[in-house]
Amino acid sequence: MTTQSQRGLCGVRFAGTGNALPQRVLTNDDLAKMVDTNDEWISQRTGIKTRRIAAPGQTSRNLAAEALKAALDNAGMEPRQLDMVMVATITPEMMCPSTAAQVVADVGAIPAAALDVNAACSGFVYALTMAASLIETGKYRTIGVIGAETLSSITDWKDRRTCILFGDGAGAAVLTASDDPAQTCLYQSLHSDGTLWPELYCPRDKSNLPADDKIFSGAFNTLQMNGQAIFKFAVSKLNQSIENALAALNLKPSDLSIIIPHQMNNRILESARHRLGLPPEKIYVNIDRFGNTSAASIPICLHELNSAGRLKKGDLVLFVGLGGGLTWATNLWRW
Ligand code: UT7
Repeated sequence: MTTQSQRGLCGVRFAGTGNALPQRVLTNDDLAKMVDTNDEWISQRTGIKTRRIAAPGQTSRNLAAEALKAALDNAGMEPRQLDMVMVATITPEMMCPSTAAQVVADVGAIPAAALDVNAACSGFVYALTMAASLIETGKYRTIGVIGAETLSSITDWKDRRTCILFGDGAGAAVLTASDDPAQTCLYQSLHSDGTLWPELYCPRDKSNLPADDKIFSGAFNTLQMNGQAIFKFAVSKLNQSIENALAALNLKPSDLSIIIPHQMNNRILESARHRLGLPPEKIYVNIDRFGNTSAASIPICLHELNSAGRLKKGDLVLFVGLGGGLTWATNLWRW
């Protein structure tokens, strides 16, 4: 963990944000026709009502490029101003090349550097941290940071414990150097515990199964999750991550303008909000409309807030992600 005063470099600002969401809406009632579930169970246990599902042939690369183009438009910038593009995703179109390299070509940003980040639901915050650090040093000026997922392509649509949760989409931010050194990422903290990987993973074949797994009944190449273990991990790490960020900067919860958390389950977000004693408008939630979109959830929220004019210069904005790896990541920015 480092705070900006420990690093003391130039400022970084969000020049623009953008979203790309597939048109198809899958409702809880639609899911009830596919597996043994119902709207009441899904709404009460998760807060999800609808999620978006990619069209046949629509990939994370397509959504990422669309979101980045929207963010560049929002910033009033040209693709050639990008020095680098980072894409956080666990659903790349191909193993090789990277989604980022494809997106650089798709948006017309050649020869910008390209880098994919696999930190599951923490991926966008990991990428944001690296982008901010590179810009602060003065070595890179403008970086496109994207979270893009087509989780529908790795969802077991026969497994009611997981298929109700996930959705597709992408969000992007264009970060650039700021003349104001106070405008920057004030705090960043990235973590993982790889011993916990069997709680959330996507096995290719038998060789990937945990050593003690004797009765794997899931489908390969789909997300396998121990929902209760992830729930407990998320509640504890979410609280700990926010409290650590506040303590490092000597802030109170009420000093935060807004928290933009990974959208994993509304019950988890509500428990953090109550513990911090914050009103509903201080923790952004859109899981009801988009479900859990892994690395895409935070930038989708960010663009909704930014395009609604809810982020003002000087605001303190906290991003927190948690997920597969297991990983967890926090950033606190002065907007
Ligand atoms: O981005 C990070 C990735 N994932 C997460 O953050 C997810 C974290 N975990 C969760 O959100 C919750 O654990 C779930 C929403 C996945 C599940 O909720 P839960 O309250 O932990 O339910 P449960 O797994 O304890 O299951 C309770 C009951 C079980 O029935 P029995 O054994 O009590 O008869 C399940 O079989 O609910 C049943 N159930 C369902 N019933 C209707 C499980 N899924 C469904 C379903 N519809 N979709």
